[in-house]
Amino acid sequence: MKKPSEKKMLPPRLPKSAIPHHVALVMDGNGRWAKQRGLPRTKGHEAGEAALFDVVEGALLIGVKELSAYAFSTENWRRSPDEVKFLMGFNREVIRRRRDQMNEMGVRIRWVGRPQKLWKSVMNELLEAEELTKRNKKLTLNMCVNYGGRAEIADAAALLAQDVAKKRIKPDQINEKLFSKYLDEPTMSDVDLFLRSSGEQRTSNFLLWQSAYAEMVFMDVLWPDVTRETLWKAIEIYAGRERRFGKA
Ligand code: FPP
Repeated sequence: MKKPSEKKMLPPRLPKSAIPHHVALVMDGNGRWAKQRGLPRTKGHEAGEAALFDVVEGALLIGVKELSAYAFSTENWRRSPDEVKFLMGFNREVIRRRRDQMNEMGVRIRWVGRPQKLWKSVMNELLEAEELTKRNKKLTLNMCVNYGGRAEIADAAALLAQDVAKKRIKPDQINEKLFSKYLDEPTMSDVDLFLRSSGEQRTSNFLLWQSAYAEMVFMDVLWPDVTRETLWKAIEIYAGRERRFGKA
């Protein structure tokens, strides 16, 4: 007989077809979590690290194949210089500290985002993690750093326009499939479950193109308090939804 604590750590039993392939994570509420404790905002971000990697383990256990984590948005540059500096350094440190563990767990890390403005040292760390983990197949973890949905679409349009100007592409060849090849990460799959913590109900410019038919689940828990069980609960909600993709 299993102890209740052990039993609790098993994912819910759901048919394979009810498990989302790609889950997008908006890790919101770090600042509020810290404020509630009279701590600086950066302590909330630090506490958010354990939550992210518990969710990664929960995703592996339940069979999610792709996770996208919104770690720094193209709009986050508007935060105080101290917080921006902290978040850049923290991203670099977390990737360096976690990459071997992720590699051993069969997780492939990918960086998704814009190079402009991003600290070189952060980019290098992400690219090294990509290289180290590129053969892993259990789960892909897209670290979205300096990522913005509108920026991604605008950048794709600019690249596509260049190809049209160079006559590599004719305007009448442009369709959704071709356009998606110009996105930051063309092989990223469509988002099935879009999960945001902290009770806020908006997308905040995350994976706009890829989330066209995502199921939105908003959990009323601040990101540092999120665990694998929060993910599993969201997946149970997702499993109860009817997805029609525009059909009647
Ligand atoms: C939002 O909380 C969170 C971010 C700006 C993204 C950063 C996320 C983390 C640091 C979590 C773990 C990430 C890594 C890289 C391990 P917020 O500051 O907007 O919170 P608030 O809305 O309560 O102010």
